[in-house]
Amino acid sequence: MPRIVTRARRLEGELRVPSDRSITVRAMLLAALAQGKSRIRRPLEAGDTLAAQGVLKRLGVAHSYDLAADELVVVGRGLHGLRPASASASSPVTISCGSSGATLRLMAGVLAGQSFASVLDGSAQLRARPMRRLTRPLRALGATLEDTSGHAPLYLQPTVLRGGKLTLPQASAQVVSALLLAGLYARDSVEVTVPCPVRDHTSLLLAAMGAEIHMEPHWHRVAPPEGELEPLDLRVPGDFSSAAFFLVAGTLLPGDLTLREVGLNPTRSGLLEALAAMGAPVAVIERDPSGPERVADLVPRRRPLSGVTIAGALSANMMDELPVLAVAATQAAGTTVVRDARELRVKESDRIRAMVRELSAMGAVIEERADGFVIEGPRPLKGATVHAHGDHRVAMALSVAALVADGPTTIRGAEAVGKTYPQFFDHLERVDGEAQDK
Ligand code: S3P
Repeated sequence: MPRIVTRARRLEGELRVPSDRSITVRAMLLAALAQGKSRIRRPLEAGDTLAAQGVLKRLGVAHSYDLAADELVVVGRGLHGLRPASASASSPVTISCGSSGATLRLMAGVLAGQSFASVLDGSAQLRARPMRRLTRPLRALGATLEDTSGHAPLYLQPTVLRGGKLTLPQASAQVVSALLLAGLYARDSVEVTVPCPVRDHTSLLLAAMGAEIHMEPHWHRVAPPEGELEPLDLRVPGDFSSAAFFLVAGTLLPGDLTLREVGLNPTRSGLLEALAAMGAPVAVIERDPSGPERVADLVPRRRPLSGVTIAGALSANMMDELPVLAVAATQAAGTTVVRDARELRVKESDRIRAMVRELSAMGAVIEERADGFVIEGPRPLKGATVHAHGDHRVAMALSVAALVADGPTTIRGAEAVGKTYPQFFDHLERVDGEAQDK
């Protein structure tokens, strides 16, 4: 469905962006493996987490949502209590993970070491995403599984995993998480080394559940648990990656915008560093931490921006925020260079190509590179008809561009926001200062 977004004069008010997608999905999947009832307060309810709930149901895991308390209760079945998604252990029914890459990859780790066979699949969009990065290291741990020419569906056979030490070529949090989850079922420890630090929510949650986890920025290790995992009791913070759209919007437009209770895990909050380097530091007001995660209110301020270079570990840290960083860069004086961001090409869309094409249509000067893009600014943007490419982050980044463009922008495929932020357009309207005056 297309959505029309027009220029905003100022942004006012407070928002609590939806809860963190990565933490909610992990908490739900891990809770299923605990012994006893887990309480997940303020869970995200969006396309990806509904997909994860569907998978749990398939595996015999009961859960219920208490609307008044905004709390999801998951009845854990213990490490060895999942039920095969079929009538007989030898003929598995395909488990659909919708479009949730995290659900599919993390569940592949869990299901690789079970005593029953499983088939994991997903939407056409998920089928297009690379899986060999996952199936190869799982096989190195002893898993018996097949992919489909490097993609889903994945066919997993019952196996006792060995464990081992793995070094990954990509900094993928989903792959690291899958291998750590497989490690819960291995005879020996699983150690994973990555080229750059990745989001560490899985290790933090596993540690909170009593698992023996060790981690350094580039390295995670899990030992086979001696007993069961303890249930979780956590409150999920706001999703930094969802807040990012309003952080950039608040940096480009005047007003007074506060984003409440945003998770500030250092493996993911590099956008704050980038905005500070561009000349627009965001004020951070610490809140009580939510379990193991740092939480803060964030107040962006409009400032003149200058170009910046994003590379190496900062690119990896900011991977989900780079589409909206590109929008900020169109309004920054000088050149912005983003490199070492090849992973952007294998997200829900090829985000390098998508952002270059759509921002160019709006008048930006942006050049595609194999591993990123180069933007010259500042350039006035003009409203245009643009496409979300089936990608929630592209849809939201283009909406932020539309807020500073001359004339209305029509965003085709805007419903993609439902994957992580179904209320995005309502929130956009709520903080539009002029709409509030009417
Ligand atoms: C995620 C990890 C990242 C990120 C994605 C969510 C996760 O993907 O881009 O939005 O929840 O672990 P990769 O693991 O592919 O790097």
